[in-house]
Amino acid sequence: MRVLVTGGAGYIGSVIVARLTARGHDVVVYDDLSRGHAAAVPASVPLVRGDVRDTTAVRAALVEGGCEAVVHMAALAEVAESVAEPDRYFSVNVDGTAAVVEAAAAAGAGRLVFSSTAAVYGAPERTPIDERDTMAPANPYGETKLAGERLLRQARSRGALAATALRYFNASGAHGACGEDHDPETHLIPLALRAARDGLPIRVFGDDYPTPDGTCVRDYVHVADLADAHIAALEALPGVQGSFNLGTGTGDSVQAVLDAVEAVTGLRLLRETAARRAGDPPVLVASNWRAAAELGWRPRRSLTDAVADAWAWMREHPDGYTER
Ligand code: UFG
Repeated sequence: MRVLVTGGAGYIGSVIVARLTARGHDVVVYDDLSRGHAAAVPASVPLVRGDVRDTTAVRAALVEGGCEAVVHMAALAEVAESVAEPDRYFSVNVDGTAAVVEAAAAAGAGRLVFSSTAAVYGAPERTPIDERDTMAPANPYGETKLAGERLLRQARSRGALAATALRYFNASGAHGACGEDHDPETHLIPLALRAARDGLPIRVFGDDYPTPDGTCVRDYVHVADLADAHIAALEALPGVQGSFNLGTGTGDSVQAVLDAVEAVTGLRLLRETAARRAGDPPVLVASNWRAAAELGWRPRRSLTDAVADAWAWMREHPDGYTER
């Protein structure tokens, strides 16, 4: 298949590109490089630089690339930033998704896989979270992704596209030449690895949650497992469509992640308790039965694999990506 990956220079998108090409698919990346890294895209993969809201440019990239399918990853994805700049998030994430849907339909690229998030659920009503549970986003980021899923549903119902949304829990780890390099970095695993490496403290945001050790529990799913779910979802279209949770089905506390960082690196972490971060629910764990049953997807990698792969990437790229 020939596939356009919007946001293919980003953390998860670049791993999807690597896994798609390894499986023999032809890929074109469309990215504005505002968050992604050109160096994360292999030299053999065409990189079209453009704004995802530019329907004409997305359509041209699809037509010129001869693409039959789209993996739409390009988005802003920081919860705290979305609270500070909601209009920007709605513009890039919702208008961007509308533009991609319109461009794909016009270009005859009839299969679309969309990057969604566990943030569509908000504070969950039960654990693990099932796709049928209430969706009540607690921040603008989650609202924009829910709106994106609704755009997909409308496109499906008018016969414009076959489409699937994948709701990521906590993406983690690294894969080959691709790793996590956000600016600023806000995610627990890269921050903890950096703190261990540099002998600096790591802040634990809240130790009084109603969880076994008092710290937040999350479902850390390896980025290569996430990428493989996109391939399964693409290859299952148009027969299987819908929304799927992508998580491991198990949760780990902040303290457990920090223990894994110490075990992998052999370094001691200085743990400092800090105030709770606004809007963090105590527990977010996926039920993943639906992705298993309908897409045949099962995560194969553990939290320790994710930490070890992230550590290996950080050691090879001590300053992150250096642009080509
Ligand atoms: N945490 C710390 N210290 C840090 C950083 C994080 O204690 O320095 C804690 C957080 O409070 C949270 C956990 O570690 O309890 C994980 O935090 P992350 O920032 O790594 O990830 P989040 O769970 O906040 O969010 C991630 C993505 C979101 C997505 C969400 C879906 O960043 O985009 O998963 O579950 F919406």
